[in-house]
Amino acid sequence: MSAQHARLRVFSGVQPTGKLHLGNYVGALDVWVGGQDQHDNVFCIVDLHALTIPEAVRPDDLRSKVREVAGLYVACGIDPAASAIFVQSRVSAHAELAWILNCVTPLGWLERMTQYKAKSAGTERVGTGLLDYPVLQAADILLYDTNRVPVGEDQRQHMELARDIARRFNHLFGETFVIPDAMIRPSGARLMGLDDPTIKMSKSIGAQRAGHAIGLLDPPDVIQRTIMGAVTDPHRETRFDHAGLGVLNLLVIYEALSGEARPAIEARFEGQGYGYLKRTLAEVVVERLTPIQRRYAEIVSNLGEIDHILEEGAERVRPRAEATMDRVRRLTGLAERPSA
Ligand code: TYM
Repeated sequence: MSAQHARLRVFSGVQPTGKLHLGNYVGALDVWVGGQDQHDNVFCIVDLHALTIPEAVRPDDLRSKVREVAGLYVACGIDPAASAIFVQSRVSAHAELAWILNCVTPLGWLERMTQYKAKSAGTERVGTGLLDYPVLQAADILLYDTNRVPVGEDQRQHMELARDIARRFNHLFGETFVIPDAMIRPSGARLMGLDDPTIKMSKSIGAQRAGHAIGLLDPPDVIQRTIMGAVTDPHRETRFDHAGLGVLNLLVIYEALSGEARPAIEARFEGQGYGYLKRTLAEVVVERLTPIQRRYAEIVSNLGEIDHILEEGAERVRPRAEATMDRVRRLTGLAERPSA
C-alpha cells in the first residue's frame, strides 16, 4: 500500500450562513487543524446546504459569506497546500449523488432527524431541501471515500444516517461506498449559548442576539463583555461534575483552549468566584482569537487569492468525485462516461 493510501481521508464542512463562532472552532475547525498533517483532507464550504432556507438567502451575502468562511479556514490554520478547500456548488457531483442517494433513502429516516424537526417547527412552508439536507450531507462525505468526519456533537445523527445510507446502497448495488466514522471530541463538541446554556451556541442566534455566541471575528472588548455577561448561578461551584450548566460551559471552553487537565483547572478556580473564572477565560479566548483575526485580515485583503484557493481546491477534488460517480453509474446502470 502506498504512503498516500495509508493516510485516512478526512472530509468536513461548514455552512456559509450566520456568524462563525467559538463552537464551530472548538467542535470542528480546531480538530481539522489538529489532524491536518496525519490525514488526507478535504474541507468544503457547503453553499448548497445554505439554500435549504431560501427565505434567508441574499445572493450577494451568500457569495461574500463563502469567501469569509474560506478566509477563516485558512486563518484558523488550514493550509491550502496540505488540504483541499472548495465550494460545494463548484463540484456538481455533490448534487448528482444526492439525487441518487435520495432514491435509496426511506422517507421515514429523514422525518426522524431532530435537526429537521427543530428547523421546520412553526414554519408554514418547509422546502423539500430542508428535509433532504442530510442526504446531500451524506453525498458530500461518500463522494470522497471518507474515513473520518470531524464534526460537533449536533451532527452525530446526520453521521449515523450517512452510514445507514451508504450501507443500504452497498446492499442494493454492491460495495461502492466506504462507511465513514464521525470524529467527535470527548469534551467541547457542544458549546452552549453564553446567554442561555440550555441551548447550543448557534450561528443564526449569534447573528441576532448579542451575548449568545463568541464570534471568531469579535473584537476583544466584545469577547470580554460576552464572557463577563455569561449566565451562571448563585453558587461557587467550579468542579466539572458538580457545576451548573452555565459554569460548566465556561469550564469546558477553558479546557478546550488551554489544553490543561481537569484536576489542574479545578485547582486553579477552586473558591475563586465566577468573576475570576470569566476574566481568565476571556484572556485565553482573546489570546487564541487575536492571531486568527490578524491572519484573517491579511487574507481577505486579497480576495483574488481566496478565489484562487477555492478554484484550485475544486479542481483537485473533482477527479476523485468523478471516480466515485463512475463506480456509482456502473453499478446502478446509469449512463457511463464514454471514457470511463
Ligand atoms: P455547521 O455549519 O452548522 O457547523 C459547522 C461545524 O461546527 C460544529 N458546531 C459546533 N460544535 C461545538 N459546539 C457548537 N455549539 C457547535 N455548533 C456547530 C458542527 O457540528 C459542524 O461540525 N451540516 C453541517 C455542514 C455539513 C457537513 C457536511 C459537515 C454539510 N455537509 C459533511 C460534515 C460533513 C453544518 O451545518 O455544520
